[in-house]
Amino acid sequence: MVKEEVRYNTIISDDISQAAKLLQRGELVAIPTETVYGLAANATDRDAIKKVFAVKRRPSHNPLIVHVADERQIMDYVTHIPWCISSLLEAFTPGPLTVLLPTNGQLPSVANNGQPLMAFRIPAHGVARQLLRLLDFPLVAPSANIYTTVSPTTAAHVLKNFSGTIPMILDGGECNVGIESTVVAASGDQIIMYREGAITKDDICRVTGLPVIPAGGHCSKASPGMSRLHYSPRTPLFLVDDITQEQIADPRRTGILTFNKQLDFIPPGQQIRLSVCSDMSEAARNLYKALHQLDELNLDRLVAERLPEYGMGKAINDRLERAAFRSS
Ligand code: TXA
Ligand code: MG
Repeated sequence: MVKEEVRYNTIISDDISQAAKLLQRGELVAIPTETVYGLAANATDRDAIKKVFAVKRRPSHNPLIVHVADERQIMDYVTHIPWCISSLLEAFTPGPLTVLLPTNGQLPSVANNGQPLMAFRIPAHGVARQLLRLLDFPLVAPSANIYTTVSPTTAAHVLKNFSGTIPMILDGGECNVGIESTVVAASGDQIIMYREGAITKDDICRVTGLPVIPAGGHCSKASPGMSRLHYSPRTPLFLVDDITQEQIADPRRTGILTFNKQLDFIPPGQQIRLSVCSDMSEAARNLYKALHQLDELNLDRLVAERLPEYGMGKAINDRLERAAFRSS
């Protein structure tokens, strides 16, 4: 027998205690974090976790991040925390850092597909922190978008994905960081970086004094979440080093995304500059909003220009490369 899907009248609200009540009942609630909105569920409730995979249409082998209020709460669910991870938690959390740690088996294995490592993050967003303090369980929360589509940085973006399939979106305004957390693990005397984010490789190197190696090299497996197709708008996206007039066949049907450049051969309403004053943090904050906006113009194609790779530039280019994969 096919199980009938529950339909909701999805509300957008800033009522934290209502969100807590729904989560306590095993329902899903989209929550704000400083990076992007997350699709949250009780991390101790196997059925609630399974609903996250179903509603997001995410393959079950791609593990979720467990969100906690503080480092003490992480201790309840891991065998130990290596010194270098402790120093990273001390330096960068609450904040946009996720650490992979050996699980002690206390949380349902559906959350991380039964792997030895589980991902933990202590978000900095005031609303997420208040919510976690109200609850006596942690929250799994992948980004609140349908698998492979553009991540959400506002409640309205979440609604585009999950109208009718979840009961509530907890509104905490626009996300301040704008791209997902950096994901790392300790491996011997190295740090493995599974995903670039607001905390850069240099930041991690500076705090731990250890070499930082990208996952997927000869010494480690790539993160299952780092599939090449990701973050994609519906409109085909092309990524180039430098946009020139010759590349644009039909300027009236093309949308443009740049760091700070304005182009006189494209209608002004079809181009978005991520940061007019070349501020990389502002560019990250605007990235997903810009992709959502350009997608809504229903143009034939989007062309984005690679950003310079200082600060968060590398993490932004990583997202753009994955967003562009379908078209390349
Ligand atoms: O900023 C963020 O991290 C947001 C907010 C909502 O907290 N969450 C987020 O979750 O981006 P998600 O599920 O969209 O991305 C989690 C990433 C995926 O690439 C996943 O494969 C990786 O973390 N990951 C989680 N657990 C892992 C594990 N045990 N081993 C390797 N990679 C893991
Ligand atoms: Mg995601």
